[in-house]
Amino acid sequence: MADRVWITDVGPRDGLQNESNVVAASAKVALIDALAGAGVPEVEATAFVSPKWVPQLADAADVMAAIRRVPGVVYAALVPNEKGLERALRAGVDKISVFTAASEAFTKANTNATINETLERFKPVFEYCTSKGLPLRAYVSTAVACPYDGPVAASQVARVVEQLLELGPCEIDLGDTIGVAHPSDIDALLDAVTPLVPVDALVLHLHDTAGRARACVDRALQAGVRRFDAACGGLGGCPYAPGASGNVDTLDV
Ligand code: HMG
Ligand code: MG
Repeated sequence: MADRVWITDVGPRDGLQNESNVVAASAKVALIDALAGAGVPEVEATAFVSPKWVPQLADAADVMAAIRRVPGVVYAALVPNEKGLERALRAGVDKISVFTAASEAFTKANTNATINETLERFKPVFEYCTSKGLPLRAYVSTAVACPYDGPVAASQVARVVEQLLELGPCEIDLGDTIGVAHPSDIDALLDAVTPLVPVDALVLHLHDTAGRARACVDRALQAGVRRFDAACGGLGGCPYAPGASGNVDTLDV
């Protein structure tokens, strides 16, 4: 097992997508630059999603153009489809993150599609990233529970992971979108998914509604996971996941 841990700070994306007021682009840029300056190795800076769905991040291109790139820091962004990929490439992102989920109801609410339809949308994104060697992450949200459908079986998460890996190589990021996981849920998830994904290509993305996210990080660390998402100040939440609170705090992790 690696003895170093890799943290992606998702605060500028997961946090600011969920603010009721739109934060000024200049403040977003200052936040991203401060995180990079603090030594965070990877920042999920923004999302190239529909501005109608998430007006909070409609300024994604302006933000990417204004940040001060720190050499070695990875600047990632969320992309739902080919249109998002094109916008992200024009903005010069280092890493693309596509996102689907393990439950149909959340996938529909969040992306207006079935799980299979999201995978169809990802095909050109995987083809491009694979051919250019551009780092690619695929989120599987609702990996523990869905705000609409309730508990989600680890076997269902594994099925979606398998379908993603059929599209091409990628990092797999398992999201506890509504932040309710117990450490035993992390055991079940890892049991189901590690036969499919090498543990060094696996990321955990834990929201912290129930206050157990640090215990879950600890359990995953013991199992060999070395990649975690966290958010500065414990920011976060998803406008399409009622009840989702912030991500586990970067300083705590
Ligand atoms: P749709 O309305 O079904 O899309 O939305 P469409 O393909 O029918 O297009 C409708 C219009 O949107 C068209 O424009 C498209 O051009 C435009 P019009 O012709 O009407 O003028 N459009 C776009 N514009 C800019 N960028 C794009 C784009 N795509 C289409 N990329 C869609 C489908 C997926 C686009 C929409 O549902 C969407 O953007 N959803 C994103 C929701 C979101 O960002 N949620 C939060 C992030 S996920 C999350 O927080 C979970 C995570 O943190 C992990 C966890 O916690 O579990 C990652
Ligand atoms: Mg999230």
